[in-house]
Amino acid sequence: MNTAPSSRISPIPRHAHGDEADLVVEGGRLVTPEGVRDGAVVIRDGRVDALVAPGDPLPSGPRLDARGRYVLPGLIDSHVHFRTPGLEHKETWENGSRAALAGGVTTVMDMPNTRPPSLDAPSVRAKAALIAGRSYVDHRFHLGADPDHPEVLADLDPAVATSAKAFMAGHHTAPVVFREAHQLEAAFAAAARGNVRLVLHAEDQHVFDLLDSRSGDPGSYDAYEPHRPRSGAIVAVAKVVHLARTHGTKVHVLHVSSAEETDLLAAAAAEGLPITFEVTGHHLSFTDHDTARRGPRTRLSPAIRAPRDQERLWRAVLSGEATTIGSDHAPHTVEEKNRPPAEAPPGLPGVQELAVSVWTGLLSRGIEADTAAAHLARLMGKGPAELFGLAGKGRLTVGADADIALLDPAARWQMSARHVHSLCGWSAYEGWMFTGRFTTVVTGGRVAWDLARGTVGEPRGRWLQGPARPRPDAALPTADRELEGASR
Ligand code: DOR
Ligand code: ZN
Repeated sequence: MNTAPSSRISPIPRHAHGDEADLVVEGGRLVTPEGVRDGAVVIRDGRVDALVAPGDPLPSGPRLDARGRYVLPGLIDSHVHFRTPGLEHKETWENGSRAALAGGVTTVMDMPNTRPPSLDAPSVRAKAALIAGRSYVDHRFHLGADPDHPEVLADLDPAVATSAKAFMAGHHTAPVVFREAHQLEAAFAAAARGNVRLVLHAEDQHVFDLLDSRSGDPGSYDAYEPHRPRSGAIVAVAKVVHLARTHGTKVHVLHVSSAEETDLLAAAAAEGLPITFEVTGHHLSFTDHDTARRGPRTRLSPAIRAPRDQERLWRAVLSGEATTIGSDHAPHTVEEKNRPPAEAPPGLPGVQELAVSVWTGLLSRGIEADTAAAHLARLMGKGPAELFGLAGKGRLTVGADADIALLDPAARWQMSARHVHSLCGWSAYEGWMFTGRFTTVVTGGRVAWDLARGTVGEPRGRWLQGPARPRPDAALPTADRELEGASR
């Protein structure tokens, strides 16, 4: 990681001698891809127009005081379940996106396991239309991979989605599950043809069925993790590695939970396979002791595992083996959660808590604040932006979208239910002392949220469509087109 200070932040502002800026974020510590240093951000027309070193001239215009704050790129959470359409009793897009802003997140990627699920392009477009005008944050959608229709992946218009989620094991909210080996094989082949990145819930249903046939449902939360053990995840990850090697499919394995999966995935990536993975905030924050002690709130799929797994996941985060951290924001109502282990749906809300819980974890592991800020900007900025082709997002750099999150790095505060913006109204982190708090969030160059006022202005989040599909004739280099013409 490059955190070495450098003397100057360039380039010199284009308009230094002329017109006003739309906003100047002044006096903060900038977390840029080139390093972490003091400076100001000049914003014009919704974009970062210049990064200016201390003492260099600044244009006139409205000021945002960032003294004592880290100035982070607006963060990306590439794994949320905002529950539209059909599950709005758990979460609304307004609530979910407000929770995102409070957690420094300005771009989310939403999952397809809704009612109905988004298993094809028309359903993704319909979802985007439902959300239009309701989101405080920019958004992109993961398509749902349908075991019965692999051809959808081969033909997917990248404007609609560039990634597709496949569930290899079932649970309460999984809409369709890849149970048969030939279905998974077909999906990997089709995704490779369509240049679609598969994002995977990699747990193996056959392993769980086999275990369930002997042991039945877990009777207590003590028994939950052993009921959904690491063997399911390890077997699934081994299959994923094999299929990625066979077909060349790009894969991103979600919510890696165990040391063994981490080792396998890191080795596969080192071999050069197009494999990356995500670690969630909750697998970094809790262990199976919490599930045994506190029950349904940390009943997750995949289950939260042992302290040694958590340590391996932290190592993956710090070493750069993990490309993204995600919240897997998966709200359920209190009534739904307060049930016996076999009936309670897995999942917890987390988009609001992700960055501060990881910040708290980084500092408590002795990571120095500038380095911690660079980690956050990589795992929730550059990492997901590059993986999913989110142009203009995830980097504090000239020309980027002016999405900015100001983090007070030392604020100590206790999380309680009254802080929760998610409609579900509860947090697994209630009672936690967090270090670090977002104080102001800017989207598209305008303040969208601050700690005192909450959301500021109307929801103006946009659907970030992917690149338009190249026209068939545009795919051929000019010389080839001429040759074709000549031979006609
Ligand atoms: O714990 C989980 N909850 N894991 C998933 O894979 C889905 C999610 C949900 O939608 O509730
Ligand atoms: Zn999820």
